[in-house]
Amino acid sequence: MTALITSFVNPKGGSGKTVAAVNLAAGIADLAYKVLLVDLDAHASASLALGLKKDPKLGFAGALIADDDIYDFVEKTANTNLDVIKASDDLVAVQVALYNQKEGFLTLKRKLDVLNKNYDYIFIDCPSTFDVLTLNALCASHAFIVPLPCEYYSTSALSTVVEYVNSLEEKGLCHAVLAGILRSYGSNGESVLNEIQNEVVRIFRKNVFKAIIPEDKSLDESIILGRPLVTAMPDSPAAKAFRKLCSEFIYKSPFWLRHN
Ligand SMILES: Nc1ncnc2c1ncn2[C@@H]1O[C@H](COP(=O)(O)OP(=O)(O)O)[C@@H](O)[C@H]1O
Ligand SMILES: [Mg+2]
Repeated sequence: MTALITSFVNPKGGSGKTVAAVNLAAGIADLAYKVLLVDLDAHASASLALGLKKDPKLGFAGALIADDDIYDFVEKTANTNLDVIKASDDLVAVQVALYNQKEGFLTLKRKLDVLNKNYDYIFIDCPSTFDVLTLNALCASHAFIVPLPCEYYSTSALSTVVEYVNSLEEKGLCHAVLAGILRSYGSNGESVLNEIQNEVVRIFRKNVFKAIIPEDKSLDESIILGRPLVTAMPDSPAAKAFRKLCSEFIYKSPFWLRHN
């Protein structure tokens, strides 16, 4: 078994990376696949959304820069088949060490290579910056997803991500393919949404997921409960959209593994 590794990337905070990572991971685990979610954001939103507190001072970051066994950082969640590596406070401090390490951008890839055989899918929730952690995530990934609220400012973030990944590929650092752009409804009104959605589909065509995540207040409720929406409130509109996304993702995923 070789896990397909996928990162959620968008430098804009609040674009839906964590919500998508948590619900895609939980939705696919619910279909009896073995899934690992890696929380690479010091804010630990993904860990909290799974009802887990972030690690105090020494945590996952220690495993990135020291020789600690990565297995010690894998935890089971309340969702069957879904494991997590939680974020920790020192993820911020660790960045300097990663910059200074020889080939520090490959550290996460080397760590995940050890775990790879235990999972069908590994998802990485990235911070909202192009820092050395996001660089590590992309270098470790076969594919990446760009969550995109259909608002004016988000589309410029989309081109930034694509240009960033292309520049990494040109340098031979990263081979991650764009798995898809995941559209969600913003709050700017219907005509603007349609205009932006059409433009994204026109430019990116097959690289846009058919499933669109609607605006859904249940998402915040599920975060407060510390449970993924797909399993906590399966009948909510966003949960149904995430289920569709899971099927679409699984169907397309063999292509991304073959590409790498
Ligand atoms: N489709 C949606 N409907 C309603 N609220 C959403 C939706 N997607 C995201 N949110 C809310 O937006 C906030 C930011 O989402 P999050 O996934 O944490 O973004 P990011 O990880 O990109 O910073 C969260 O509070 C989340 O509940
Ligand atoms: Mg986040």
